[in-house]
Order: sequence, then structure tokens, then C-alpha cells
Amino acid sequence: MSSSLPLPGAEERAVSAALLKKLRSLIAQHDGCLPFDIYMEAALYEPGIGYYSNGLMPFGEQGDFVTAPESGGLFGRCLARCIASVLAQLENGVVLELGAGSGTLACAVLRELRSLGTLPQRYCILERSGVMRNLQKQTLQDHPELASLVEWLDELPDQPLNGVVFGNEVADALPVSRFSWCDGQARTVGVAENGEALALCEREAGEDVAGRIQALAETNTWQCDYRSEYCPSLAAWVDSLCDCLARGMLLLVDYGYGRREYYHPQRAMGTLMCHYRHQAHADALWFPGLQDITAFVDFTTIAEAACDAGLRLAGYCSQAAFLLACGLEQLLAEADPDDTRRFLPLSNEAKRLLLPGEMGERFKCIGFSRELNDSVTGFTLPDQRSRL
Ligand SMILES: C[S@@+](CC[C@H](N)C(=O)[O-])C[C@H]1O[C@@H](n2cnc3c(N)ncnc32)[C@H](O)[C@@H]1O
Repeated sequence: MSSSLPLPGAEERAVSAALLKKLRSLIAQHDGCLPFDIYMEAALYEPGIGYYSNGLMPFGEQGDFVTAPESGGLFGRCLARCIASVLAQLENGVVLELGAGSGTLACAVLRELRSLGTLPQRYCILERSGVMRNLQKQTLQDHPELASLVEWLDELPDQPLNGVVFGNEVADALPVSRFSWCDGQARTVGVAENGEALALCEREAGEDVAGRIQALAETNTWQCDYRSEYCPSLAAWVDSLCDCLARGMLLLVDYGYGRREYYHPQRAMGTLMCHYRHQAHADALWFPGLQDITAFVDFTTIAEAACDAGLRLAGYCSQAAFLLACGLEQLLAEADPDDTRRFLPLSNEAKRLLLPGEMGERFKCIGFSRELNDSVTGFTLPDQRSRL
């Protein structure tokens, strides 16, 4: 599969070679088999050379993938309507966006909140990549009146806030651990050296990991050599997000499933995916640093962590259901269908966001509330919580 990918240019290959050098030293530090989550962490975030830190543009037509906000303004406008319904219930509410990518979503959300008359007191961004942060600042420069509300945080706030904490396609970018399973034996999958290249390696799983995988295996009938992954930091990450919310909502949008579907016996090769120049494939070792590596999100883990932290599940549904409940159809109806130059891109965007074969069903929205009296726009019952 990876042989059909376009060959990166010399400058890109040099970045990957620098990362490879770092990876070789990490492999040596881990007795020849680097746990996959550590590999993924370095491949995506190693300062200066990881995928999100090396300055090669991941987003948009020239990049590797197009996220919902990168394909137009409808997604951000809908999200803003959900956020506005929370801010309307709070005094001096704050918005905190996680992993803001190019900053396009922040602009779209802020513009719509302004036109709805519900601008937050502050719009905070927590972004782990310095390169992405700079890109966000550049994007927001074009909107000085909105940029003055934006503040970049180095870490989650100490003081719990009243407002909305949200992230689009951030949970799928958290490093995952990979495993294989056969006849009750769990093995962890890692990364080793193979001459000039890298190769996957396996190790017998330690007690904790084996127990975790065995628990998943018990509720499913896996055939030998079942392979999948889990995100070791997901529950703690969600818990930390809940901790910083005094009143308001936590909203996460991503591709994923509830746990039963995630570990379905037929999904025997897991959910890991890589993106390079708009081609999706499964070879995570191909030119590390030049391609995105992601895995689907286990929404059951998110729900368990948030509910354990005292939040209430507001809803879990497909992206299509969420955007329609936020009024996407009305936003589309505002455009004149005879004005084809304006209407056609909007209707193409709507199709991409809503159709089941595009983003509509694969992407899910999950929302949690704390101490809100009224309902939140975007989540209408019946939703898909029974699939969690
Ligand atoms: C796939 S991009 C999504 C960007 C944007 N939200 C969008 O929808 O276009 C993931 C972003 O999350 C950032 N990121 C990953 N893990 C993060 C974390 N733990 N905290 C904050 N940002 C994170 C990455 O640097 C990147 O900007």
C-alpha cells in the first residue's frame, strides 16, 4: 500500500531522517522494541521534527487531510450555536478550545458567536505544538477584533472555569498502544530497527496490559492474531478536562465508536490510520514525521471518565445528527440556490459533513454538562448513548 504513496521531496526526507535518528536512540533505550505509544508520541510531536512540530503543513488541499472546519464555515457556525446555548446559561462564560490546528475553527466559532451576540469573555486555546500555535496566531491576525479575545494557555487552567471546553479531532491524535491477541495470550506491538528501516516487533504483555486486553477479549470472540489498540492516556486526559470545568459543557468531536463496536471481532486489524497527501493507509512506519498517524476513539472510555468525574452525559450522536440539530439546514437555506458561486460550495460542504459515506456517521459528537439547568443545542433524544 505505502509503495503507491507519492515519494516525499528531499527536504521532507531530511526531516524524516532526523526523526529516524531520534527514534533509533529511543529504540535502543527500550531494549530494541519501542512501545508503540512512545513511537507515535515522537512521530507526531518531537520538537522541530515530529509531524505537528516540523512546520510542514498538515491541513487543507496542499496538506494531508481536511478536517471539518477546514472544508468551510458551516461546521464552526453549527458548533457556535451549541456553544452559545451554554454561554447563554452562564455569566461571563469562557471557551477553551483544545488542539486548534490552523485556527480556522476558532475564527469560525468566534465570528458566529459575535453574530449571535454571545461572545465569550475569553477564548482560550490549549495547543501542544508551538508551530501550530504560531499558525493559529497568523490565522487570527486577519480578525484583530476577535483575536483580542484569544489567549493561548500553556496548560489547563488551575481555576475551574464556567464555560465550554471543546476539541475537534484531538482525541484521535493522542498516542495509542497496539496489541495482538491469540488464544488468551496478549502481546504488545512496538517498533524495532530493521537495517536502514523500521519494523514492527512484539513483546509479551506485562500483567496490567494483559489484564486490560483480556477484559476486552472476554466480551468478544476474537480469532487468533486479533490486532487493535487502546489509548493509555485517554481516561486521564478526559478527567483533567472535567477537572477544569466548574459549570458548563465538555464537547468532543471525533471519529470513533463505543467499545463494543471498537473491539468487534470483525475489526481484526484495529483502527490505526495514516494520512499522507490525502491518501489513507495503515503503514505507521512509512517516513515517520511526514504523515499523520491516528486511531479511532473509544467513546465508552470518554463517557466513563467524564461520568466518573461527575459530569452528566448530555448526548452522544453522529456528527450529522449533531449538526442538523444545531441548525445546519437553516444555515444552508439562508444562501440563495440561484447564486451558484456561493451556494454550490456550501452544499458540497454540507454533503461532506452529513453524508454517511463521508463524515456524517463516522464522526461522533459527545457532550457532557456540569450544573446546567437548560438543555444544550445539538443533542436531541433519542441519541446513540445505548451504543456506548
Ligand atoms: C488533527 S489536528 C485537529 C485540528 C483542529 N482541531 C481541526 O479540527 O482542524 C490535532 C490538533 O491537536 C493538537 N493536539 C494534539 N494533542 C493535544 C493535546 N493533548 N492538547 C492540545 N492539543 C493537542 C495537535 O497539535 C493539532 O493541532
